[in-house]
Amino acid sequence: MRAGAQDFVVKPVGLERLQVSLRNALATSVLKGELQRIRHSREGRLTFNDVITRSEAMDAVLRTAQKAAGSGIPVLIEGESGVGKELFARAIHGSGERRSKPFVAVNCGAIPDNLVESILFGHEKGAFTGATERHLGKFVEASGGTLFLDEVSELPLAAQVKLLRALQEGAVEAVGGRKPVKVDVRIISATNRKLLDHVKSGHFREDLFYRLHVLPLTVPPLRARREDIPILLRHFLVRFAAEENRAVSGISAEAVAHLAQFDWPGNIRQLENAVYRAVVMSEGDQLELGDFPLMLAAPQTKVAAEIAYEPVTVAPVLHQSAPALVSGSDIPIAPLPSQGTLSMLTASGEIRPLEEMENEIIRFAISHYRGQMSEVARRLKIGRSTLYRKLDEASGTAAAKGGEEHAGSP
Ligand SMILES: Nc1ncnc2c1ncn2[C@@H]1O[C@H](COP(=O)(O)OP(=O)(O)OP(=O)(O)O)[C@@H](O)[C@H]1O
Ligand SMILES: [Mg+2]
Repeated sequence: MRAGAQDFVVKPVGLERLQVSLRNALATSVLKGELQRIRHSREGRLTFNDVITRSEAMDAVLRTAQKAAGSGIPVLIEGESGVGKELFARAIHGSGERRSKPFVAVNCGAIPDNLVESILFGHEKGAFTGATERHLGKFVEASGGTLFLDEVSELPLAAQVKLLRALQEGAVEAVGGRKPVKVDVRIISATNRKLLDHVKSGHFREDLFYRLHVLPLTVPPLRARREDIPILLRHFLVRFAAEENRAVSGISAEAVAHLAQFDWPGNIRQLENAVYRAVVMSEGDQLELGDFPLMLAAPQTKVAAEIAYEPVTVAPVLHQSAPALVSGSDIPIAPLPSQGTLSMLTASGEIRPLEEMENEIIRFAISHYRGQMSEVARRLKIGRSTLYRKLDEASGTAAAKGGEEHAGSP
C-alpha cells in the first residue's frame, strides 16, 4: 500500500468486496484526472502577452525581462506587494526554453524555519523525527525548469548557506542524505523589500545576494503608471464578467476617473479584487463609483480636471440576460455552459446563427482560462488581435440589437 497500491483483497474474495474496491479505484482516478485538468487550465502557460500594460515605465522592464527569458541568467524581481512579480517570473519561464518543464514556486516567508532546508533540498526517510517518507525537495522537483524563490529575503541564514552552496555547485544535498545530487534549475527570486537593505543589516548574505542579483528587475507600483489603470480595469472586467456570468457592460467615466487617481497600496492585486467584488455585487449593468466601496472609504481623491477619462466598456458578449434575444426567435441566449456543451438549436428547433455560437464559445473560453487572453487565443487558434476584434464586433452587434429591440417594443 505504501508503494502506491490502491487497495488489497484477501482470497477468496467476495464479489461485492471486489466491486467496492474497483469502484473506489475508478472514482479516485477520475478525481485525480479532474484535479489535474483543473490545475492545468488554471495555471495555463503565461507569456509576456499576459502582462497587461501600456505604460512607458513598464517598457524597459518588459524589454529586460524578455531578454532574460532567452537565457538562463538568474533574475531578481523587486517590487511592492501585488505589482505582478510572480506574473513576471511565470512569463519569463513561459517564454524561454524551459517552458515545457516545471515552474516550481516556493514562498520562503511562509515556511517554518526548521523545515526550510528539507522543503528546498529534500530529506531522506528517517532524517529527523517525523520524516517517515523520503522527500525530493523543490530543487529536484523543478529539475530542468525554473525554481521561483518568492520572498527570498525571508530565508533563514542557515538555509542561505545551503542555497549558496547549491548554486555554486549545481548540486543539492538532501537532509540526512549521503551525497549531493546534480540539478539543473533556473533561479528566479522575488522580494517586496530592497534585498540590499537586508544585506546591509546583516540578515542576508552578501555572497548569496550577488548570486541572485545578477539581473535585477524592478516592477513599478501601479500609482507610478496610472495609464495602466483603465486597461487593467477592462481586462479584469472582461474576465470576471465571463467567470461570474454577469451582465456588466462597463464602468462609468466618473468611476474610471476616481479609480485612476486612487493610490492602490495593494497594486494590481487590490485592483483585481476591487473589480471582482464590484462585478459580483453590482446591480446595474454598468459599474459606478458606488460599486467600489474602497474609494468611498479612502480620503477624498482629487480628480484632475484637465484629464478626461473615457468610460471603460466591454463586449456585451458577456451579456446573458438582457438584451440578448436571438433575432427572430423567442429564447434568450443560453447561460454560460458549465460543461462546455454548446446548444446548436433554438427553442423552436432552428439552427442558431454562427456568430452567436461563436460568441458563446469565446465567452466560455475566457471563463475557462480565467481571463488569460493569450491562452484563450492560443487554444482557439486565433490571434489575440482577432480575439479582441471579435469581442468588439460582438459588442457592436449587441448594442445595435439592443437598440432595435427597444424601438420594436411597445
Ligand atoms: N500587468 C498585469 N496584467 C495583468 N494582470 C496582472 C498584472 N500584474 C499583476 N497582475 C495580476 O495581479 C495579481 C498579483 O500579481 P502577482 O501575484 O504576480 O504579484 P506579486 O508582486 O507577486 O505580489 P506579492 O508581493 O503580494 O506576492 C495576479 O493575479 C496577477 O495575475
Ligand atoms: Mg507574489
